[in-house]
Order: sequence, then C-alpha cells, then structure tokens
Amino acid sequence: MVQAVLAVDQGTTNSKAALVTADGTVLATGSHPVGISTPHPGWVEQDAENIWLSVLKATTTCLNAAAGGGGAAGGGVEVVGIALSTQRESVVGWDHSGNPVGPVLGWQDARTSSWCAQLPVAVDELVRRRTGLRVDAMFSAPKMRWLLDRSDAYVGTVDSWLIHRLTGCREHLTEAGNASRTLLYDLTALDWSAELLDAFGIPRAALPEVRRSDAGFGHTKDVPGLPDGIPIVAVLADSHAAMYGQGCTLAGMVKATYGTGSSVMTPITDFAPDGCTLAWLTDRPGYALEGNIVSSGAALAWTADLLGLPDVGALMHLAATVPAADGVVLVPAFAGLGAPHWDREARAALTGMSSSTTRAHIARAAVDAVAHQICDITDTIPGGLTTLRADGGATVSDLLMQTQADLLGRPVEAADVPEISALGVAELAWSTLDAHTTRSTSVSSRGSGSRTPWAARRTFRTFEPVAADRARRRDEW
Ligand code: G3P
Repeated sequence: MVQAVLAVDQGTTNSKAALVTADGTVLATGSHPVGISTPHPGWVEQDAENIWLSVLKATTTCLNAAAGGGGAAGGGVEVVGIALSTQRESVVGWDHSGNPVGPVLGWQDARTSSWCAQLPVAVDELVRRRTGLRVDAMFSAPKMRWLLDRSDAYVGTVDSWLIHRLTGCREHLTEAGNASRTLLYDLTALDWSAELLDAFGIPRAALPEVRRSDAGFGHTKDVPGLPDGIPIVAVLADSHAAMYGQGCTLAGMVKATYGTGSSVMTPITDFAPDGCTLAWLTDRPGYALEGNIVSSGAALAWTADLLGLPDVGALMHLAATVPAADGVVLVPAFAGLGAPHWDREARAALTGMSSSTTRAHIARAAVDAVAHQICDITDTIPGGLTTLRADGGATVSDLLMQTQADLLGRPVEAADVPEISALGVAELAWSTLDAHTTRSTSVSSRGSGSRTPWAARRTFRTFEPVAADRARRRDEW
C-alpha cells in the first residue's frame, strides 16, 4: 500500500487534486472547473456550493485515476492526510447549518471600492502598521462587511469554507497565511486585531479561529469518496504554497505565479509595514513582500474571447506569428489595477493601433501586458532580483516566458510541474507528518520537520533575456 497525501488546490478557475507521495511523486491528478460570474461591472462572484462540488469532483477524479477507475480503496493508495491550498481573499458566508449565505465575493470583486475610499486615513495607516497591507476592495474585510450588512453569517476565506465542509460542518478554522490577507490579522501579534475588527465592524464571533499552517485542521467527516477521520494536516494560501513549492525561502529569491491574476513574492526575514504578507506560520512566521496583479491569465482569456479564439493556447499561437506588438498596448485594468498602482477605479485600455494593426498584434499586446505588469512590481523590489522563478498555468507558453525574460532583463526559470501550489502544500504536510512520526525536535524554517526541499531536485525551463529593446518597450508601456 502506497501512502499519499491528497493535496487540493482550490483556485479561481479550477479546483485541482493530486495524490503525492512522501518523496514528492505525483501518483494521480484530477481537475474540475469552477463557475464565476460578473453580474455588474466590477462585481465578481462565485457560488460556495459550486466551489465545494468542484473540489469533490476533482478529488474523485484523482482518487479514481490512482485506483485505475476502481475507487481509492482498491487502488493500493492509502490517503494519510489532506493538504489544502486555496485562492485567497475571496469571502464566503454561511449560516448555522453550513448553508451558504449570499454569493462568494471573489478576490477580484471591487464593489466595495467606494466604501473603502471613504474610510478615514487613520484606518489605512492602522491597516499598514498591523497587516503590512493597504485598504483595498481586493482584501477580505470590506467583503465580509458587505455580507454581514445583509445577513447574520459566519464568514471566512475559501480555506475556512472547505475546512468547514471537509469536517462535516464541525470546524470553523482558518490558516494564518490566509488570515493575513483579510486586513484583520495582526502580523506581529499573530492574532485577529481587535482594533481592526472594530474599524471594519466585524464581530470576532463571525470569524474562524486562526491556526498555524501545519497545526492540523480537524478530520474528514461525511465527505463523499473519502473515509471519515483523515487529518487535514496542512493549509496554505495558493500563492504562498507556490512560493513554498518553488523553494523560494531565502531573501533575494523571487517567484511569480501566473494564474487568473498574478502574485510576485519574495521572502523577507521580518515584518515590514508595506506590501508584507505572512506566507506561512510554522515554528516561526515566514514573511514575504508581495505585489498582486488583478488580471493576467484573465486578460489572456478576455483577449482570446475578443478575437474569437477558442482558448489561450490559440491566442499564444496567433501572438507568435508577429515579432512584436508594433506599438499596440493593452492595459488590462478590467477590474482596476493592483500593485504597484492600486487604482481599482481604473479601467482597461487598448491603445497604439494603426491601420496596419492585425489581430496578431493585439494578441501579442496581451502577452506583453502580463509580463509588463510583473516588471512593474519587480522594479519596486529593493535591490532588484537575480532570477525570477515562474509557475502557474500560463508558464507553459515559451512566448510568455521569453517575453518576461526580455522585459525583465533577467533570466526566468519556469517550474517543470503545473501543480506547484498543490505540491507546495503537500510538501508541508509531509514535513509535518514526518515530524509527528519521528517526534523530531529539529527546527526548520520550512516547516515542522527537516527534509531536503523537493525544489532542490526539480528541473526548470530557463529563459535568458535576448531582446535589446527593453527600455523602449517599458517606456511605451
Ligand atoms: O489572491 C488571489 C489568488 O490567491 C488567486 O489565485 O491561482 O486562483 O489566480 P488564482
């Protein structure tokens, strides 16, 4: 019987599952799409039941694949624990019976931006001092306020919702890194901030209990396809799990995740009150500087749709038929701009077209836009960067990765595995299980146990900068 951790990566557009052994081997995977809707400009909603069902479908596909279609029990795989990586900031509300209350307000949702704008400057200053973030509609607290204004509910981020469902609606817990994205969590006291709860009008009783990333989050109960009693060993926010999986644990290492949006992160040793986040909390806090981009993969999907193309792969193919965007620039501020511009009222622009502009130039401008937005953030990193480690779905595109290297003027190393967030949290879970098994007392900054990081054995596709027109293209952007 092979022992495996069932890693679930619940993202904005897909829920993914992977069975991962103690040495990082992926035995089987499963994936299922998640619905998303935009009922009004700037509003981005999901359905909590749909998210839960997508997780069940992804895990069922994964377990069946491992068992050769015959179910997990007959497949020679023993699921020894669950590891959970989730989209961040999005907020779910549910009632005493565990039924969702209202829509899930997605992290891209900007409906509270005018409410945020009228908050006193003192609140923004307090938020910066306590959380390292700034008041913005992307984060959870204003979304929680919006839901609580309409119903009496428990609220939590997606990790909290999935833990609730995985444990048969018995637990109301969240992981510290996810909590750090709410605007309510004090990054030095490592607890909900009473001052911030007060500032946003969020009752503590509506919020989950915060636990460290490897603390254990209850056991499965009444989950279709899984036996009762499997421990939820480790939880990380998806972007943070990617950083863990990329082995970016030392200052100076920078990773970029290319998802629906993008996240650029670099580890730092201490809390810094500007752009700081808590990547994970194990035997010590793992802080990071982070910049968030609201629309990257989403911009590629939008452009593919605009051009009547079937998918992003076709967009990349079309973009590669021209050597450059020929002056066309797409600024994909469909739901405003995140870091470093932070203007949620901004809207998208497509400029620089002439009578010789073709669909291919517009496709190319979309690819450039993803890379330029990453550069906007890396340009602000003190000391710059030597190499960028890239992960996420869009990194399969050589064109995007080469464009990124050219616009950065630095090499880009693309991860060789698409499931890096799932692998990252699986690695933390195995580290924790090992520590429990051996009753190790060793101290590691990467988790509870002491093991060689899987990233040390991973291979990367490396892209060296070759273009000579970096400065001109950055100016044009
Ligand atoms: O901050 C939002 C982020 O966690 C969403 O990640 O992979 O769903 O785009 P993803």
